[in-house]
Amino acid sequence: MEKITDWRQLWKELVAIKSASRSNGVSPAPRDPWNDRALAFKQGVLRRWQRPDSSRNFILSQLDADSTVLDIGAGTGSWAALLARRARRVTAVEPSPAMIAVLSASLEEEGIRNVSIVEGSWPEVYVEPHDFSLCSHAMYGAPDLEAFILRMIACTRRTCFLLLRAPSLDGIRAEAARHVWGQPLDSPNFTIAYNILIGMGIYANVLMEDTGLWKPRVSPSIEDAHRDLKRFLGLADSPEHDGYLLTLLRRRLRWRCGRYLWPPEVRSALVYWNVRDF
Ligand SMILES: C[S@@+](CC[C@H](N)C(=O)[O-])C[C@H]1O[C@@H](n2cnc3c(N)ncnc32)[C@H](O)[C@@H]1O
Repeated sequence: MEKITDWRQLWKELVAIKSASRSNGVSPAPRDPWNDRALAFKQGVLRRWQRPDSSRNFILSQLDADSTVLDIGAGTGSWAALLARRARRVTAVEPSPAMIAVLSASLEEEGIRNVSIVEGSWPEVYVEPHDFSLCSHAMYGAPDLEAFILRMIACTRRTCFLLLRAPSLDGIRAEAARHVWGQPLDSPNFTIAYNILIGMGIYANVLMEDTGLWKPRVSPSIEDAHRDLKRFLGLADSPEHDGYLLTLLRRRLRWRCGRYLWPPEVRSALVYWNVRDF
């Protein structure tokens, strides 16, 4: 019989691979990984948010005019601004100065005055308890997810919300992970986080976002896709799996309008629980 997976260890190992892959396989990772990307990130969220989605609708439906909300890893502040219009006060925790610069400018532009920005990393940073806490796609660099969640619970009076990537098991990255590592979970994600929560005795609710799979990745060439996939798997410096990965990409990428399209493979999962129930 198979052994039960050590989910905390698997999360930790995948965080380490992800963090090594950011260094591009050549030079050390830049100190602020968002330096040149913060504005583009904001524009990407604005584009996606032109369509309504069940995660935003559900979270907003839980708040009232007296609520306080903690937004962990607020990035360029799309969530903080959205929540601030419904709640009394929002605290936006964010470690990246580049993200904070865009976040402050956006709040200023929109005339939002009830968001306090705290520069720092979760779970180390100090904040007071809030009614609600949210972490949207900002936990993937934290090696100890249990410590991350325990600190979140300690700072939450009512409900914790996590938004996480939920990749399909038949995506290219999953297929590559299965070949290279013997299992298809290609990154710190929903499946692993949910099992860590169960290990903590938390049987959280899940709402799969109704917008379905994210727009597919695109690559200008097979060589670019190969470089990208190798970096993603932490294999930038190793030729060991090159033959397999190139064959996989040639089999699964589709040439459309002058570029290669990856099959769509990720959706968003909203995980939430009331801290008083556990
Ligand atoms: C993908 S962005 C998501 C931003 C925002 N939550 C959203 O959904 O639009 C991830 C953000 O989390 C921040 N982040 C990464 N690690 C963090 C940590 N340990 N504590 C707090 N924020 C973190 C990054 O600097 C970045 O701004």
